[in-house]
Amino acid sequence: MMTREEARERIAALSEELEQHNYNYYILAKPTISDYEFDMMLEELARLEREYPEYLSPSSPTQRVGGGITKEFKSVQHRYPMLSLSNSYSKEDIEDFITRIKKSVEDEVEFCCELKFDGLSISLQYEDGMLVRAVTRGDGMQGDDVTTNIKTIHTVPLKLHGDYPPFFEMRGEIVMPFESFDKLNEQRVAAGDDLFANPRNAAAGTLKLQDSKEVARRRLDNYCYYMMMDGLEQRYQTHYESLQAAKRWGFNVSNYMAICKTIDEIFEFIDYWDVKRHELPFAIDGIVLKVNSYEQQQILGYTAKSPKWAIAYKFKAEEVETELLSVDFQVGRHGTITPVANLSPVLLAGTTVKRATLNNEDFIKQFDLHYGDTVTVVKGGEIIPKIIGVNFDKRQPGALPVEFTKVCPACGTALIQHEGEAAWYCPYAQACPPQVKGRIEHFISRKAMNIESLGEGKIELLYDEGLIKDVADLYFLTYDKLFGLAKEIPILDENGIETGKTRKVSFKEKTAQNIIDALEKSKAVPFERVLFALGIRNVGEVVAKTIVSEYHDIDSIMNASVEELSAINTVGEVIAQSVKAFFENPINLDIVERLKAAGLQFAKAEAEASDKPQVLAGKTFVVSGVFAHYSRDGIKAAIEAHGGKNASSISSKTSYVLAGENMGPEKRKKAESLGVPIISEEDFEKMIGSEEGAPKIIPENALQGQNSSSPGQRPGFEGQRPGETDEQLSLF
Ligand code: IVH
Repeated sequence: MMTREEARERIAALSEELEQHNYNYYILAKPTISDYEFDMMLEELARLEREYPEYLSPSSPTQRVGGGITKEFKSVQHRYPMLSLSNSYSKEDIEDFITRIKKSVEDEVEFCCELKFDGLSISLQYEDGMLVRAVTRGDGMQGDDVTTNIKTIHTVPLKLHGDYPPFFEMRGEIVMPFESFDKLNEQRVAAGDDLFANPRNAAAGTLKLQDSKEVARRRLDNYCYYMMMDGLEQRYQTHYESLQAAKRWGFNVSNYMAICKTIDEIFEFIDYWDVKRHELPFAIDGIVLKVNSYEQQQILGYTAKSPKWAIAYKFKAEEVETELLSVDFQVGRHGTITPVANLSPVLLAGTTVKRATLNNEDFIKQFDLHYGDTVTVVKGGEIIPKIIGVNFDKRQPGALPVEFTKVCPACGTALIQHEGEAAWYCPYAQACPPQVKGRIEHFISRKAMNIESLGEGKIELLYDEGLIKDVADLYFLTYDKLFGLAKEIPILDENGIETGKTRKVSFKEKTAQNIIDALEKSKAVPFERVLFALGIRNVGEVVAKTIVSEYHDIDSIMNASVEELSAINTVGEVIAQSVKAFFENPINLDIVERLKAAGLQFAKAEAEASDKPQVLAGKTFVVSGVFAHYSRDGIKAAIEAHGGKNASSISSKTSYVLAGENMGPEKRKKAESLGVPIISEEDFEKMIGSEEGAPKIIPENALQGQNSSSPGQRPGFEGQRPGETDEQLSLF
């Protein structure tokens, strides 16, 4: 039997040793013991910690296995705001950036060139060498405390070694390596769950899981790229130096970094990685350039959203050639027919592509598409890739042109076209199955009635069983009708193609009760969301809100004329016509009547008085881009709290365009052509007379104490990642 003191010592020794092996394995990729030996030690440690819980440290290697459940992620304020980077898409942008920097600094400049990891940024806070907190970016000012989940990531050090400072923050990216991503999606196909579109979404979904054991299973990874602390510049003169120090303390810092002095060197790095990125085990979406010297960084400073000393170069979307096998026609909830190409499966941006959208008939004509054509496909972050060209040289003689269907593929009704539109529609809105199901799915969606428990194949089952034919039928479902229903439904892959597997959707006691409860709860959803949920063409979230702000109940909306509706700021003729057409249809009127009878909200709740001065009354804003101090919903809420209104598109009725970072060039053009003033986030804050939510970007003391200039050290091109040999280091 061990004494308590012996147990304490053994726990400390095992923890130390296991963390070293973890580092050897995951960061250096040079394990020195077998997995079996590792597991045995870990098991011994876990046993001792159970027997002597007083010696269980929050940074024990046993924490990596997961097990902790986070009920609700606490929102915490960032000590240093998490900024983003300004983006560039062309080499000219990079040249301009370099010229600008050199002009401001008036000296030689070294740039640290790094990979732009395509994941989620994370702030890792360390105190006395222990990971104390990990926080997501959130809106840049505050994020979610996801420490329990982050501890399961083997490349995040829980305890540091060496001469680390007593308090600092490491910024880095949480990524899901392709291997983990593929495995996860395979498991999801088997379980009948929705698939993740890309590793970034999968990483985001994983970090939000409440069960850290599941997070551990999904094998996320972390790369650190930035250190923050008060007095950082007193310790290090360059960014590169600080990262190399971080690497010594145990952080996973990429070796694929280069210090470049000339434009040619920078482009060499960019061009190299534009090709070689396909060989990386994780996704990158560009290259980041950072001024290496802290002194020069300080001279350059920050905008509200991003450092002026850094820029991201985004790679162009990847493209590949493949064969067009056939074309399917899909029916949307408004009856729009979308042609979708079935392609010969091909690897693109880390996933296998089998489908691509063809948009509409004009698109097919524009490319003069023929079956068997060799087409070029590109993929951004979205699930469905796009065709951007046809290789006519490869067209086979006798190939047949792709003809657009003339009848609805779901219900056989002859299609119609609205004047001036390229789209074809199935007019049988009432009973064409995909349209009905699509409308019900829209109705229950999160931003509409938010009846989550009805998702994932349940609408399909209820519709197929004849229990619901429209959204109003939902409110007449009973526990008895639901309980016991079950059906095998086909599982679709990430391209929407049947996988040949099925899964069972069934309504057991709990499911049935949850649905009844959720439906009951949805009766309190405010009127503007009910109006949005009805699925009126052209009436999105913002338009629904705008209409409700003028017409406070459903009857006054129904009674309003097209002229009256289109007189509402930002509601144009087209929207007004759609609203009118919707309420002229007796089928829709019947649905509304039954929803009213069920007890849904069809009038605006008494407005809660805003305690803010109504300085924006009568003003309409269009919000565009990304903001430093607000999320998009946050800034819209601030506008409304001060009496203003939000609109989604710019018109002559728009009072201001509130532009954040990355405002679209089209929006800017439109605002300028209509003479609508474009204001910044700062202007807006002045307008509402508030410095609230606008803390300083960098606390003064964080940039104090810089003295000497960069010694011009040039670490040169490096590049080794776990598992690679030194021969592969040659260039980067
Ligand atoms: S530096 C103050 N370096 O890209 C600058 N960011 O919008 C902090 N990212 O939010 C960012 N790789 O999540 C930096 N090597 C890298 C990066 C990187 C990916 C992400 C990061 C940031 C976003 C830029």
